[in-house]
Amino acid sequence: MRTLIAGGLVVTATDAVHADVLVVGEEIAAVGLGLSARADRTVDATGRYVIPGGVDVHTHLQLETSGTVACDDFATGTGAAAWGGTTTIIDYAGHDRGESLLAGLARWQAKAAGRAHVDYGFHMMISEVDDRVLAELAELVAAGVTSVKLFMAYPGVYMIDDSAIFRVLRRAGQLGALVAVHAENGGPIEVLRTEYVASGRTDAVYHARSRPAILEGEATGRAIVLAELAGAPVYIAHLSAEQALNAVHAARDRGHPVYAETCPQYLYLDESALSGPEPARYVCSPPLRPAGMQEALWQGLRRGDLDVVATDHCPFTTRQKALGRSDFTRVPNGLHGVEERLTLLHEGVHRGQISLTRWVELAATAPARLFGLYPRKGAIVPGADADLVVFDPAAVGTLSAATHHSAVDYSVYEGLTVHGRPEMVMQRGDVLVDADGFHGRPGAGHFLPRRLPQL
Ligand code: URP
Ligand code: ZN
Repeated sequence: MRTLIAGGLVVTATDAVHADVLVVGEEIAAVGLGLSARADRTVDATGRYVIPGGVDVHTHLQLETSGTVACDDFATGTGAAAWGGTTTIIDYAGHDRGESLLAGLARWQAKAAGRAHVDYGFHMMISEVDDRVLAELAELVAAGVTSVKLFMAYPGVYMIDDSAIFRVLRRAGQLGALVAVHAENGGPIEVLRTEYVASGRTDAVYHARSRPAILEGEATGRAIVLAELAGAPVYIAHLSAEQALNAVHAARDRGHPVYAETCPQYLYLDESALSGPEPARYVCSPPLRPAGMQEALWQGLRRGDLDVVATDHCPFTTRQKALGRSDFTRVPNGLHGVEERLTLLHEGVHRGQISLTRWVELAATAPARLFGLYPRKGAIVPGADADLVVFDPAAVGTLSAATHHSAVDYSVYEGLTVHGRPEMVMQRGDVLVDADGFHGRPGAGHFLPRRLPQL
């Protein structure tokens, strides 16, 4: 099949130029002005942007946590991703303590196999560090899982201590793999949580009060110091606080390779939602921050201290969130966003907060590069996978649970007006979404063994 996407403004991380894009089979064959190639199908992209498919490097589909399971599985979650213009996800696989990393990976592979609509890779969450786990890291990298995540929070579940973090950073650095860190200081958080519950302060707002921004700043700084000592790069996942951003900025000034990600919820929502009518819906970790911090994050996106916008997509239904009705420590943590990310970030372009090329860089190119998928993903060049989005910047819409495609029964962005909409979404030459609706099929998304990060 040959498809010509004609007349659009092709936007990449570096340029915005009027050009046609020729797709042959699964790949981009040519990009140029006035391509007069023979095609089986022509898509008129006049007045539209043509961008690389979005790359969301932080999802938790079907994650088991807090006695329940995140409500989007690999079918519904990747379907929602496709509707939103995201054609690649990297989900966080995990292993139980005592279980090998590769056995954990096999469990996640089984969850995704035959279900995913878009291509997917995995990171590995490491919840225990010993010689066996360290030795297994090389096998993990050989299996195409070239990044791992370490937790400085959630004692008793995922949290590991500084010596373990240091050991993984050093070994990953030797292998060329990238370590992502959940940077919140879990020790004092646990003390505060226990005290709040003991004194009857169990409302959802205490979730945020027990996880103050200062503890994210401290943990981010500590993770960076441990990475510097290990001579390894580090990636700060879901950065939400100005204090953490300052730690990243200072490390970059010292010349240390620190990379950081934020998420749409930290750019658009604030902690006041935790005092509203449905507070549990907004419980995530790190928590939503005070109004005003969002602007610091937008500035971080502009300055380059934040490299990636991913989602931490981990939704729970109203019923699941109600598990913590009388105790915030029992609310399953997480929000949706995989469908809204590209459009919410484009809203930053519409409002003049970031440029058009920066939008593409943050949503597709930089995550593909950092996680070993570039230029197969995140690029519009001959030979790249034909993962393309025709995006209509003039469309005006309203985000709502009534129209989204995630399995979650509410939207934390309900009623928000957005400018711009993915109009046609293509993965490896196949149209997943267009004006006629959804054409994807479970299993069409392939596992992506990743190369080492390009840092
Ligand atoms: O609240 C969140 N982020 N839930 C997902 C698990 C994690 O900590 O990333
Ligand atoms: Zn996460």
